[in-house]
Amino acid sequence: MALTVTPLSGACGAEIAGIDLARDLTDAALAEIRAALNQHGVVFFHDQAFDDETHKAIARRFGQLFIHPNFRGTGSADPEIVWVKREPHDPSVVGEQWHADTTMCAAPPMGALLHGIEVPPFGGDTMFAHQAAAYDALSDGMKRMLEGLRAWHTDRMVAGPNSGINARRSTKVRDGADWVETRSLHPVVRTHPETGRRMLFVNASYTTGFEGMTEAESRPLLDYLMEHSHRLDFSCRFRWRAGSLAFWDNRAVLHIALNDTGPQRRLMRRVQIAGDVPV
Ligand code: SIN
Repeated sequence: MALTVTPLSGACGAEIAGIDLARDLTDAALAEIRAALNQHGVVFFHDQAFDDETHKAIARRFGQLFIHPNFRGTGSADPEIVWVKREPHDPSVVGEQWHADTTMCAAPPMGALLHGIEVPPFGGDTMFAHQAAAYDALSDGMKRMLEGLRAWHTDRMVAGPNSGINARRSTKVRDGADWVETRSLHPVVRTHPETGRRMLFVNASYTTGFEGMTEAESRPLLDYLMEHSHRLDFSCRFRWRAGSLAFWDNRAVLHIALNDTGPQRRLMRRVQIAGDVPV
């Protein structure tokens, strides 16, 4: 079986054709997909039909599954599966800011596999931006300034009683009195463990400030980096069909779900793969 890898843009994303993931994921195919993921940051497949267990089995070929601490017990009977659900009149959707997933954890997930179950006839695209391209485009002076800098990542804006998120969207997060904030310090520039490329590693959903500085002091540089991180020439945009699958490297790309589907339903099933501590 010959896989074809077609880049979606110059910096980010490629579509892979010629494989039924549920049936044909041989070791050779796995290696080709990994290589494409390392090169493009996110890979896409169309016309994939499988159930929850097969989705998890495919993800497990790439690593151990990750259980999201804020979705646990909120809507899926299976903690290894997150249903990313948008009902027609939801004002808000999961992932509507540029972000990497779950970076408040000391070891954020390596990646995620998102499968399109019910896809609206228009809208609801997902965009991705490659953070090696973002880092490479910084000036030498800025790169020197970021060297050794670390930033705080917290989940207080996306879960817990003060986030206000559950009133606005159908995919619920933990927000009870027993919820506790998770915070981690991560390097602002991380080195990808497989490619050795340097990647910008801050995002709007989780990063609040630099180590040893107040949030107000951090804001101007953080805002600059976050704006820079999703420049159009670092990005690609994926148009979903029912049966499409996106597999992103959460260490390498940011992503955003576009909330522009009007009064239509969108339902996706997501499985995450465990990752390592960013260095
Ligand atoms: C997410 O941020 O994982 C959701 C992406 C999407 O629904 O397109």
